[in-house]
Amino acid sequence: MAIRIDGKAISAQIKDELKEKVAAYRQQGVEITLAVIQVGNDPASSVYVGNKKKACEYIGIRSLAYELPEETSRKELLDLIAELNGRADVNGILVQLPLPKHLNEEEVLLAISPLKDVDGFHPVNVGNLSIGRKGFVSCTPAGVIELLKRTGIEMEGKECVVLGRSNIVGKPMSMLMLRENATVTVCHSRTKNLKEITKRADILIVAIGKPCFVTADYVKPGAAVIDVGIHRNEDNKLCGDVAFAQVEPVAGAITPVPGGVGPMTIAMLMKNCVESVNLQKS
Ligand code: GUN
Repeated sequence: MAIRIDGKAISAQIKDELKEKVAAYRQQGVEITLAVIQVGNDPASSVYVGNKKKACEYIGIRSLAYELPEETSRKELLDLIAELNGRADVNGILVQLPLPKHLNEEEVLLAISPLKDVDGFHPVNVGNLSIGRKGFVSCTPAGVIELLKRTGIEMEGKECVVLGRSNIVGKPMSMLMLRENATVTVCHSRTKNLKEITKRADILIVAIGKPCFVTADYVKPGAAVIDVGIHRNEDNKLCGDVAFAQVEPVAGAITPVPGGVGPMTIAMLMKNCVESVNLQKS
């Protein structure tokens, strides 16, 4: 039976470490501020934004909430971002996605200063990651690395298969695993002989966005299986991209949904906010 990787406990530990760091900064007179912008009131986004504010409060980061109406214009949003880019007392800027249809997400994300882009979505930060330079790293893939490290799962020299190639998870995930000296294969919806490839993985990271897609026959016995997906099934219960009940007996380690990767995303966002102070100094 697999070890269950407890993302809730690991994220709580990280948040406690960050709380100490923030207190030490405060003693030096440094306060950390995150600006969170939400346009419209998508219910899922409101939950995420609420959780981000709560995490800030716990750690001691000041959060500025901008809850803008659905009909906010492109200019109003870009002007707000420009104002926050210029404010010395704002360290991080986050625009919650998705945005209403009349706003161009790419244009909005490009408007955020790369030095304040705590989501790690700006092309400058994506590029920095791909060539091993300092910068902000997308929170979910960074959280997966932290889960593996803190569970003692060695990545160097291992066969790692990433299932999914999104800009926010799959692509940065593959770059981070390379940085850890894993041998990385990225698979996606057009990959042929998918099971043959995933069965080679010592570490299988699943971010394909399809509920219960990965069944036991995709998994090498003893592999570490990391499930990035989150869905609601017919019974209104949360489930991931991995068919947990049947994969758990085969895997060596596995993340549950909920309580696996999910809580790590916010912990890594908080880590990026704390680290922004150093990035902005240099
Ligand atoms: N919407 C869903 N996940 C995220 C995230 O990590 N960051 C932002 N900005 N929006 C999101």
